[in-house]
Amino acid sequence: MADSKEVASRVLTGEAEAPKETCKGSTSTPAEGGTDSKEFEGAIGGMRDPSKINEEEDSDEEEDDYEDDLDDDDIEDEDDGEDHEGFMSMLQNFIMSKLDLSGHGEVEKVLEEVSVEGVVKYIKSGQCKNIITMAGAGISTSAGIPDFRSPGTGLYNNLEKYNLPFPEAIFDIDFFKSNPKPFFVLARDLYPGAFNPTPSHWFIRLLHEKGLLLRHYTQNIDTLEHVAGLPAEKVVEAHGTFRTSHCIACHKEYSQEWMKEEIFKDNIPSCTECSGLVKPDIVFFRENLPTRFFHLMQSDFPKCDLLLIMGTSLTVQPFAMLINNVPSSCPRLLINREKAGTVDPMMAMLQGMLSSSGSGLALDSPRNTRDVALLGDCDDGCVKLVDMLDWKEDFEKLLTSSKKDDKAE
Ligand code: OAD
Ligand code: ZN
Repeated sequence: MADSKEVASRVLTGEAEAPKETCKGSTSTPAEGGTDSKEFEGAIGGMRDPSKINEEEDSDEEEDDYEDDLDDDDIEDEDDGEDHEGFMSMLQNFIMSKLDLSGHGEVEKVLEEVSVEGVVKYIKSGQCKNIITMAGAGISTSAGIPDFRSPGTGLYNNLEKYNLPFPEAIFDIDFFKSNPKPFFVLARDLYPGAFNPTPSHWFIRLLHEKGLLLRHYTQNIDTLEHVAGLPAEKVVEAHGTFRTSHCIACHKEYSQEWMKEEIFKDNIPSCTECSGLVKPDIVFFRENLPTRFFHLMQSDFPKCDLLLIMGTSLTVQPFAMLINNVPSSCPRLLINREKAGTVDPMMAMLQGMLSSSGSGLALDSPRNTRDVALLGDCDDGCVKLVDMLDWKEDFEKLLTSSKKDDKAE
């Protein structure tokens, strides 16, 4: 077989045809792609100058205060290159798995049985030391925050009052520049601080307390994982944060307090230096993900012993592609109301013939040796896992302490 990395890089450099999902900076807009599209949504595909983003260097040892942690503005220009490398290595993994160029025939079987029971046994065995959680809006819906794509209740189905050209325009950087009002009205409605963590968030915290959580990757900007007490270095906010804001013209930084005041005064925040628009550092469609995402995904995913995917439709790239970056034997458990991230039936059939690995979750493949779905509400799924793992007492302690904190405030 040809050198797989070489083939993948030929695809990347345009010498071979790239799968549509892998087009960084794709010109496909959410409007063209549609919300059901598995294509690269155009979200998160453009360029955001990493030197203008608040970032901290990673360190597992760091236990700094969360606010301080995110206030370091220490990204150098060279991070542009690392961003690029991270993105390219992610694309290579994706393409290699998509084209089945990974070169491994039989994959090591980690789970005794491919079921929730099998996953629980694996966790109990002590062999599973590094769990990565990947989350989306579904872990926060029970807190009262709508997700994006659920029929009827999803945010993108309920934005008529804003008179948007297409629902995702609310998070589209070009639309924002021409009409920022809808975003700021929404920001007021969904402003972090008004909601409490869900049992799913507490479950992730419990994984950390048990020493099993390597990292939590979230697409959410509601900060509920931090409210649930996860240390900052354990969390990667792939789609950014409300904690800091920047002027989109001169890049002057503004604090969360400043932005909050502007939002609640119904102002369109404008820069005190240059009158440019000031935008919270959440990642809009066509903007780049934070540098921290690209740094950490490269070192974390090869170490992963178990991937827990919770409450996400896995439709937005590059986040969705992360599921392909774990080792080919690494079990993946999806906890969601519906199946997500599965290979389309034709690909599944082809890959079933070729190997048991491949892109996407192989939930319906006869060759599946590692992917499990726990379908239903995330909170129920987490509580079920807690029961099966005999962690009930510790879980209740966390929940009780959170209620005490509420009363104290
Ligand atoms: P979506 O709305 O696309 O998907 C949420 C998934 O969670 C769906 O599969 C739901 O069925 C499921 N779900 C909802 N509530 C649930 C619950 N209580 N228990 C279990 N499952 C539940 O949200 P995301 O995948 O997070 O990006 O969307 C990804 C990105 O799309 C967002 O970060 C946002 C958006 O465009 C930006 O704003 C840049
Ligand atoms: Zn400015």
